Amino acid sequence: MHRKFLIAGNWKMNNGITDSVALVDAIKKRTMEVRFVDMLVCPPFIALGAAYGAAAGSLLKIGAQNMYHEAKGAFTGEVSFSMLRDCNVSYVILGHSERRTIFDESDEFINKKVCVALENNLLPILCIGETEAEREKGATFEVVEKQLKGCLENVSSKRAKDLTIAYEPVWAIGTGKTATPEIAQEVHSFIRGKLVEIFGKNVANSVRILYGGSMKAANVEALLSQPDIDGGLVGGASLVAEEFCSMIEVAEKLSL
Ligand code: PGA
Repeated sequence: MHRKFLIAGNWKMNNGITDSVALVDAIKKRTMEVRFVDMLVCPPFIALGAAYGAAAGSLLKIGAQNMYHEAKGAFTGEVSFSMLRDCNVSYVILGHSERRTIFDESDEFINKKVCVALENNLLPILCIGETEAEREKGATFEVVEKQLKGCLENVSSKRAKDLTIAYEPVWAIGTGKTATPEIAQEVHSFIRGKLVEIFGKNVANSVRILYGGSMKAANVEALLSQPDIDGGLVGGASLVAEEFCSMIEVAEKLSL
């Protein structure tokens, strides 16, 4: 079954308004001809509106890197789904490993956000993945299954079709160590199998599973050539227009 590739840039805490607009402009110019790949950038909250404005007239979508599950109220420092909707955000990254480790986010907490995003027409990109220590002790599948099930509790099959999963082995994030295409495919196929168990075959076959962790122009083709790798969640390499656009072009070439 063919799933449309999604190449998503996670800018993390990089680029204010001026730099975000410049980067969106550069990506937009270079990707005007791209038709068969979904393209997304996720700037910091404060630059979402400006990035959306800069992307006007192109197919480049804007996403957020996190959100809070309540609509409004006394939650100092948080940003709600309705505020993201107001900024014309289409996707929201949830449960990134930096949120889990630095900000102590649990599967239960992430689950609340996944449900709220799905109920409010925001497309969640749910991140899961094992640490180096977990992989070394052979716990990869166990960890990934626990995160997946914990974060998807109470999600109906009807809503689940709007999900994107990102498999991001923590040991590969920002380290330059990429999972080999075979290692990544093994986990992606495991995740797909779990999605079949939870939501049934039709939904599981339509959900995109992105790979994330030191993905770049030099390794994107080998990764995207695997049957269960449906795109990438790209950190460092998404901050350079040339590099990010080369990755999109590889995905476009593989889609023709
Ligand atoms: P990286 O980050 O591409 O810099 O490894 C990926 C991510 O954290 O989403």
